[in-house]
Amino acid sequence: MQAWQVHRSGEPSEVMRLEEVDRPTPGEGQVLLRVRAANINFPDALLCRGQYQIKPPLPFTPGVEICGETEDGRRVIANPALPHGGLAEYVIADEAALLPAPDALDDAEAAALHIGYQTGWFGLHRRAGLKEGETLLVHAAAGGVGSAAVQLGKAAGAKVIGVVGGPQKAAVARELGCDVVVDRRTEDIVAAVKEATGGRGADVIYDPVGGDAYAKSAKCVAFEGRIVIVGFASGDIPAPALNHALVKNYSIMGLHWGLYARKDPASIAHCHRTLTEYAAKGLIKPLVSERVPFKDAADAVQRVADGTTTGRLVVVPEGAGR
Ligand SMILES: NC(=O)c1ccc[n+]([C@@H]2O[C@H](COP(=O)([O-])OP(=O)(O)OC[C@H]3O[C@@H](n4cnc5c(N)ncnc54)[C@H](OP(=O)(O)O)[C@@H]3O)[C@@H](O)[C@H]2O)c1
Repeated sequence: MQAWQVHRSGEPSEVMRLEEVDRPTPGEGQVLLRVRAANINFPDALLCRGQYQIKPPLPFTPGVEICGETEDGRRVIANPALPHGGLAEYVIADEAALLPAPDALDDAEAAALHIGYQTGWFGLHRRAGLKEGETLLVHAAAGGVGSAAVQLGKAAGAKVIGVVGGPQKAAVARELGCDVVVDRRTEDIVAAVKEATGGRGADVIYDPVGGDAYAKSAKCVAFEGRIVIVGFASGDIPAPALNHALVKNYSIMGLHWGLYARKDPASIAHCHRTLTEYAAKGLIKPLVSERVPFKDAADAVQRVADGTTTGRLVVVPEGAGR
């Protein structure tokens, strides 16, 4: 079969190579899946760079979430077992963790439903306890994880402020349903949030970026607000002074969604049922900005790494997908 392989760490466009490899063989409790669509996530870039918390042995295939098909014809969502990632014609995955792909979504959308939306759900509800009527600030609101958080925030009845980099992303954030959009390149985030909240600040802040985004969050978080630490796409891991959290009565909460698969797998299945209902009602719909031909996957991973994309870029192998 064909698969994108990484033999050494570096920038995705330089280190990803399309090669002919053997189909992976399922181990105990695993199944073989034909890939119908593979969503690109920022961690795929970090995997290529050797900067992700998981370091698969070289060579490996990137791709951490797919919509695939079982040998008996079921359409499922899965996290491929690395080193055999989703940017390939076939993957193996844990059978117990397979989830049914919602009928309301096509293959590319289904491939983009899992990580971003589950992370959003656990971050906003289980960790931050977002309530109807509260204000939610989402950094990188036009991105993969961010766009999911915007839709889930709106579904929860929150007022959503989206922070983005540039006018094109601002237009996407507006279309996604953000009540207020702030372009971090040209506008003062703190002043804009204060203005939109009558000086109160944001109750919940969802931060997949870190660095300066975090610094701004601490300046415009509300009394008893919650800052959810989701990721560090800026490459800068903040080291905040904790006395600031004490003085202003806010909480900083970490979120590692993948850990729920080990600590509380039933909660992931429960969340998936809710997301499936939301998708059926049209409350959420993964923003697939591009369906990428298989041969262009390395370029697509590079563009996600560079932070220039909106929504999700989903790779569709030739002849696959509906
Ligand atoms: N905690 C968890 O369990 C969990 C789960 C899934 C993902 N994540 C993390 O969430 C983050 C977002 O993932 P994603 O796949 O949805 O990516 P993404 O948001 O589609 O892309 C990253 C976005 O970050 C912003 N950004 C700001 N500075 C950047 C820089 N120096 N380089 C690149 N991007 C920069 C850009 O948006 P603007 O230009 O609009 O600011 C960019 O579009 C990643 O850090 C990922 O590791 C965490």
